[in-house]
Parts: sequence; C-alpha cells; structure tokens
Amino acid sequence: GGGDDPVEQMLGFQGIPAATGDSVLVPAGYVATAFLPWGEPINASAPAWKPDASNTAAEQELQVGDNHDGIEFFGFNAAGNGFGNRSDEGLLVFNHEYINPEYFYAPGSDSENWLLPFTLEKARKGQAGHGVTIAHIRRRADGMWEHVKTSPYNRRIHGNTPVSIQGPAAGHPLMRTAADPAGTMVLGTLNNCGSGRTPWGTYLTCEENFNGYFGWNGDRTPTALERRYGITKDGFGYLWHTVDPRFDVNANPNEPNRFGWVVEIDPFDPNARPVKRTALGRFKHENAAVSIGPDGRVVVYMGCDERNEYIYKFVSSGKFDAANPTSAANRRLLEQGTLYVARFDAGPVAGDRMGTGVWIPLLPSTVGVDGKPLRENPNFAAPTDAEVLALIMIKTRQAADAVGATMMDRPEWITVNPKNPGNVYVTLTNNNRRGTTPASSNNPDGSSSAGSARPPVDEANPRTNNLWGHIVRWTEAGNDPAATTFTWDIFVLAGQPSITGERAPSSNINANNLFNSPDGLMFDGFGRLWIQTDGSFSNTGDYAGMGNNQMLAADPVTKEIRRFLVGPSGCEVTGVTWTPDRKTMFVNIQHPGELGSHPNRPKNPDGSTWSDNQIARDPTRFSQWPTQGVRPRSATVVIRRVDGGVIGG
Ligand code: FEO
Ligand code: CA
Ligand code: CA
Ligand code: CA
Repeated sequence: GGGDDPVEQMLGFQGIPAATGDSVLVPAGYVATAFLPWGEPINASAPAWKPDASNTAAEQELQVGDNHDGIEFFGFNAAGNGFGNRSDEGLLVFNHEYINPEYFYAPGSDSENWLLPFTLEKARKGQAGHGVTIAHIRRRADGMWEHVKTSPYNRRIHGNTPVSIQGPAAGHPLMRTAADPAGTMVLGTLNNCGSGRTPWGTYLTCEENFNGYFGWNGDRTPTALERRYGITKDGFGYLWHTVDPRFDVNANPNEPNRFGWVVEIDPFDPNARPVKRTALGRFKHENAAVSIGPDGRVVVYMGCDERNEYIYKFVSSGKFDAANPTSAANRRLLEQGTLYVARFDAGPVAGDRMGTGVWIPLLPSTVGVDGKPLRENPNFAAPTDAEVLALIMIKTRQAADAVGATMMDRPEWITVNPKNPGNVYVTLTNNNRRGTTPASSNNPDGSSSAGSARPPVDEANPRTNNLWGHIVRWTEAGNDPAATTFTWDIFVLAGQPSITGERAPSSNINANNLFNSPDGLMFDGFGRLWIQTDGSFSNTGDYAGMGNNQMLAADPVTKEIRRFLVGPSGCEVTGVTWTPDRKTMFVNIQHPGELGSHPNRPKNPDGSTWSDNQIARDPTRFSQWPTQGVRPRSATVVIRRVDGGVIGG
C-alpha cells in the first residue's frame, strides 16, 4: 500500500528477481543507500579511512570495524538523553564479525601470503577491526540519515577493550590468566556475529567462531575441552598467536575460555564496561533473541552455529519490571537463571516432520544419558554445585552432549513472533554432515563438531546432506517462553523444486523465491518474518536460479515468501533492524567481494595473491560497490520507501 495507506499489508511489495550483479537491489518504490562502511571515522576527530588499507591499528580503533553483522537501532527518549522510542534519532549499534585479510591489510612483501611479514601491529589492527560500533545517527529533513560525528555516544568496542566477566563462571580457575588472576576481566570481544536487544535498552553481542583466533607455538596435545571447541594449532590462519602471547594457547591456556559468550553493552553510557554474561553458556553463539514470559521471567533463545550443534535458552531467575523498564533491577536479569538445551522429538505421528520437544536444564542435578547426574560426570565433577555449574557454563557443549540434546543442521539466528512470546523460529542453515553415516552421539572422537559426527536424519533435520537449509519453528506450552515443553514444525525447506523425494523443498518454494542457506532471521514489529541468506552464490547446479545472497520476507500464517533484496557479488546479507515506526530499515552487507570458500580463511585456494592491485584491476567487479574506491567494504544499507511508508507493508 501507499505511504498514507492506513492498512499495513503483510507483504505489500513486489518481489524482485534473483540477480548476480554487484549492487544492492530493492523493490520498485524503495531506495537503498550505503552507510557507515568499514573504516568510516567513528567521530569528528577520528582519522580518515585510507583506500590503500594503510591505516594503523590505533587508527582502526577509531574507525568502524569490518564485516558488519548483527545490528540494532535504539531510539532516543523524548529528552534525547537515554533509551526511548523515537524514530528520528538514536544509536545504531552493530557487530564486526571478522576481517578479510586480503582487503583489510595492505599487501606485504611475500607473494604467497600477503599477511607476511606478520607483526604485532598487524595483529592489533585486526583486533581493532572486530567488536562493536555504536554510532549516533539522525534522520534529516529529506529522509536520509546522517552520522552525528560530534556526539559523545559514538564508540568502538574492539578486541582489546576491557570487558567484565560476570555470572557462574566468573573467577573459576579455568577463567584465570596471568594477566587476570581473578578471572573477572578480559580484553575484548571477538567474532561478534548476531545480536540481540533487551527491553531495558541494552545490546547483546554474540561471540561465535572465537576458536579461530587462537593457536600455539611449539608442540601441544589439545585437551578434550579444546578439541570440543575447535582450538587447533593454526586456528583460521590469522597468525595472532605468533606475535601476541594472549592468543598462544601454550602461553595462556585459559584465554580461549574467556571467549564464546554473550556480551551485554549499555549503548547509552559511553563509559559503561561491557559484560560477558556467563549464565547464558559458552558455545559458538549466533544471536540472542529475548522474550518476556507472562510471569515476567526473561528468556533468551540462542543457537550454536556449527554442524550438529544445539539450540539453547536461558530463563532468568528474576522478573522483568515492565513499569520501570530501565530500572537497576531489570539491568541485572541476565546475571542469574537456568540454561536449557533443546531435544526435538518425533511426536505422536512418525514421519510427518513435526513433533514435540523438551527443554533439558543444564544443572548439576540433571541426569545424563549415562544415568548419572552431571555433578558425577567427570567433565563437571567438583566439590560444590557452584563449581559444577561454573564448569557446565564453560563446557556447555559437553553438558549438552551428556544430556542427549538434538544435533541440529547448524542453528543460526532465532527470532520470536511479536504476536506470541512463545512462538519462535530458527534458521538451520545447511549441513553436509547429516545422514551420511550413523552416529550415536556428538563427536565420538572428542573432536570439534566439525569432526566426525554424521548423525542420521531425524524429523527436525529430515534431509541427508542438507545443502540448502530450512527453518524450524516451535510454540512453547501455554505460549510461555519459560515452559519446558513445546510443539514444533517446519516453516520452510529451501531447495530446488525440480528435486523430488526426501530432499525436495517445501511447497512454499517456487521459481520466484529460490534461496539457500537461511541465516539472519528477524520478525519486525508488525509480525512479518525477514529471512537473510549466507550461502552459495554460484547460481549454478544445486544453486541455479538463486543468484547472490539476499533477503526475503515471509507471511508466518500463509507461509508465502517473497524476495525483497539482493546483495552485491560475494556478500552475505546479515543483520536487520528498524526504527520503531518501521519506516527505515537498516540491513548489513558483509564481505562484498569475498572470494574464498571459507569466510574466515585468508588463503587463496588458487595460490595466487589476492592483492589490492589484483582487486583494482577488475573494475567491473567492484566499481559499483561500495561507493568509495575499489576496495570492497562491508557496510550498513539504509532502506526507505520513496513515499515514506512502512518497509514491506
Ligand atoms: Fe556468524 Fe553463524 O554466522
Ligand atoms: Ca512427527
Ligand atoms: Ca550468521
Ligand atoms: Ca552462516
């Protein structure tokens, strides 16, 4: 409908075709503008971005980070001095998941690896490219948005920012290091993937593939804990451990335990120290979807993104005071509660790809599949239940293994239906280790989950070699997010309609809405479901007709899905937020121009040099995106309707 149409439609836009070009495409009647790209000065006194990537580490600490991901808009209150509901001015808070070394650094002298010679300065610059940006923004009279560069709210949180450690694991011996003998303060947050927001006005940033930054010099036999979280000798090839002992597991064996958490940030207090909330468990966190139960308990839904990993939820001990949303008591609600992991059962009808489920509490008293309570499991045994609980939080993956949770097809984002706090959707992005050989338990060899486990198909993960991914949804008993049982079904199975049988897509997939690898997932306030993709953009074979990564919108009732946006070449579309009036949408475009098969791996599989010059030689690839120069840059995209109406409506 038009801008003055009083009736907001669920899918009020014309779907767009798949595309393979190098620009952001949106439906007729919409405009998309790049905003706050990697390297943008965070405030008026910060240094300018240099297109040859020669900015220093100290300069990067004052510039927007790389690989934009989760994002939340926090409107100001009427007075303009705190959290409120304004749609014309607020704080845009967004994650920087990782860096693409081939674009992030000026090439070095080594023709085989542009990272060489590697230096502490390069490590520091990489660390500065991670974390979170808080940017004060406001809408101009012409509807465009601007960065308020003189605002004291502008802030970077990065890989060396002091962060408090709070909750059951704080201070545990496994959390202590020589630099922090109390185990209560860590430098930095890393691999900031998806996001979340609380009704008390704080931002949640989620640490995902933290293991890739660690490595070791010399010899080491990794512990079972290190193997289960994928700590390896060379990590993902960043080389930090070769120059910064904090990331050398031989020098600092407990430093990895201080990553893999959800971090809470108060964007309205520029001096507030971020806090790692250990009550929410340690794993490869995707995002954090907050729901409030009818009795006021706060529930946080979370996925662990790796093949055959689990879905979790935290239920607070305290209750949300809705009458005083930003109260001091509300701000402590993530300090204490119960962590659960999900088991998806077949339900009363076998083979119908729907069923029932159970939330299993991860407590010292919970009886595992071995018939013994976790406090008697050698992984968690300790003199007191408080210490057992600390170990459960540090070794959350092993605790979930021990209680027989359901291994899922890579849980990515989770989102809660605004019409029902107990109705929840999750993207299961893909899984090429599903159903190829039977496996009775996760990681029988103690390796990381990318290791040997290849579980059989089950009703919630029903396809062998799940190339395209799917979305599962559940409804908690009594519509109460704090309930311990639920019913579930499958909202969509992506894929190719030409494929029939076990691996066929669901009937809401057609030639006009093909996609693969759903990842970002977010309901807007009206109840429309937005789906973002991070998958193959080859547009051939199994992926023919899907084009570049994209964003679609879905009607949760009819299950209709329409394509809303197509991203530039090589990108992932991830993270979306709105002004409260839903008339501006902010979407992140991550790693345009990325060429590698694994996003965190800086090695060129062809063996040639991905240098700055090589990128510059191909103007057709990068001339349109982004707008400044030829070096590709992750950025936020601001999307508005020409007629000023509600996005999607
Ligand atoms: Fe950072 Fe699972 O995506
Ligand atoms: Ca069933
Ligand atoms: Ca993701
Ligand atoms: Ca992904």
